[in-house]
Amino acid sequence: MKQQLTLRVNGRDERVLADTHHTLLEVLRRELRLFGAREGCGVGMCGACTVLLDGQPVSSCLLLAHEVRGRAIETVEGLAQGEALHPIQQAFIEHTAFQCSFCTPGMLLATKALLAENPNPTDEEITDYLAGNLCRCGSYLAIVEAVRAAAERLRTAAGAS
Ligand code: FES
Ligand code: FES
Repeated sequence: MKQQLTLRVNGRDERVLADTHHTLLEVLRRELRLFGAREGCGVGMCGACTVLLDGQPVSSCLLLAHEVRGRAIETVEGLAQGEALHPIQQAFIEHTAFQCSFCTPGMLLATKALLAENPNPTDEEITDYLAGNLCRCGSYLAIVEAVRAAAERLRTAAGAS
């Protein structure tokens, strides 16, 4: 059964028509044409579909769209400010922390949540936090370096403000 939903995505209210069984991932990709969240396993195991829900990383393939009405949803499309990439995106590019980039949107969002909680994580804490985000290309070492660099950049920016 289709129903009208209003979802709060990247700070904007988006009205969509969705079946009650449609997942958040399906609605983001099919209705809102936001393709950053990727469909990998479809069963909550790979992290490719990660988005932030009220600031926390979640697997959008496991959530029904109608369940997240009124919650703040953030996708990778919301990270950059106009032409200016987010410091985490800049760090991933500078450290070449990807190969095919399939996992990258999920990694970026999980990193944002990590650094909001823990601005100065150790390598072990980074690895633990990102354990639910799989990278089939095996870019893990570069990803940890990029997260560390992003953390430093964000701390410097916070200190300067
Ligand atoms: S597609 Fe959602 S966790 Fe793999
Ligand atoms: S860069 Fe290819 S899956 Fe991570």
